[in-house]
Amino acid sequence: MQPVEIKKGIYWVGAIDWNIRDFHGYSLPKGTTYNAYLVMDDKITLFDTVKRPFTGDLVRNISQVVDPSKIDYLVINHVEMDHSGAVPEMIERIRPEKVICSPMGKRALIEHFHREDWPFEVVETGGSLSLGKRTVQFIETRMLHWPDSMLSYLREDRLLISNDAFGEHWATSERFDDEVYHEELFAHAAKYYANILLLYSPLVQKLIAKVQELGLEIDVIAPDHGVIWRRHPGKIIEAYNSWSLQESKEKALIIYDTMWHATENMAYAIADGLIREGVEFKLLNLKLNHRSDIMKEVLDARAILLGSPTLNNGYMPTVADMMSYMKGLKPANKIGAAFGSYGWSGEAVKGMSEALDQMKVKLIDPGLRVKYAPTPDDLAKCVELGRKVAKAVKEGA
Ligand code: FEO
Repeated sequence: MQPVEIKKGIYWVGAIDWNIRDFHGYSLPKGTTYNAYLVMDDKITLFDTVKRPFTGDLVRNISQVVDPSKIDYLVINHVEMDHSGAVPEMIERIRPEKVICSPMGKRALIEHFHREDWPFEVVETGGSLSLGKRTVQFIETRMLHWPDSMLSYLREDRLLISNDAFGEHWATSERFDDEVYHEELFAHAAKYYANILLLYSPLVQKLIAKVQELGLEIDVIAPDHGVIWRRHPGKIIEAYNSWSLQESKEKALIIYDTMWHATENMAYAIADGLIREGVEFKLLNLKLNHRSDIMKEVLDARAILLGSPTLNNGYMPTVADMMSYMKGLKPANKIGAAFGSYGWSGEAVKGMSEALDQMKVKLIDPGLRVKYAPTPDDLAKCVELGRKVAKAVKEGA
């Protein structure tokens, strides 16, 4: 890759990871990017670095603009290793005058790298730093999504360097939002939000309010993953507002696993009920759909129907995996019900209903169990369950 000038004197100098496929449980079928930004001013400043194996890419990109040893300041907006893995080598090369980070950032950097001798300068929300012609304003975003996270706002350029916020895990040769398909971009952004930030939605609401309170005028949002928002920065902020309010639409998910197709036949009959009531739905077999893709669907769904046959007095391991993952991300304002087939003991439906209840999903049915293979009467009950859920979805329950 080559450095890309994103504003006069400001360059993307990051790396593209085409081959990564897993980010601690989140599937990345199209890779990701680790964005870093070089600002040429009286004080030459590098904002963030990259994952350690990509240090060479970062150095090569910077070197096409300036000798890396000429960099004065290194700003570390976030300490997670995909952005700070290259920090020790870059500090050795640059020998910066200042390493700028949040108070929690300093603590995390020392705890990760055990280097108290780096020239730390701690900044807090409201703090600012002159680079010469430019002023950087810092906004801490604790727990969005690590305690150390912060944003850097370049006032004169109206540019927000937003670290993980407003990103996507998507490797592309394009660097800007107006160079890629809008629908695909928002699909990646939604999956990213659902899997990384959903849990922190109340804090996202506070951050949006804080940005408004500070009166930041934003022309460009430059995240540390994915493309740079220069055409539609307002649209991704609007989307974050909606996602963090956990607004849903008339949409149901049927998430299930099956052993010998009995539970799957129930799932299809429930889908018939949803079709008859005209409610959008997705059938998501857990053997075929990754948990992180399902979370993207959960983001704007109103109803979750969870299906599993009974296995070893419980539900299928795929369902347990999904429920554990989903519970941690705290989706809110959902309705739901459980269903499944069984042979002799039949605990799965009760167990799934309890798991949904623990996630504060409002149960609109005690759950539907079918012994062995569903009869026509059983399938009719499944259709009725689908219709019942559809009606509740339409009522916004
Ligand atoms: Fe992209 Fe939280 O690191």
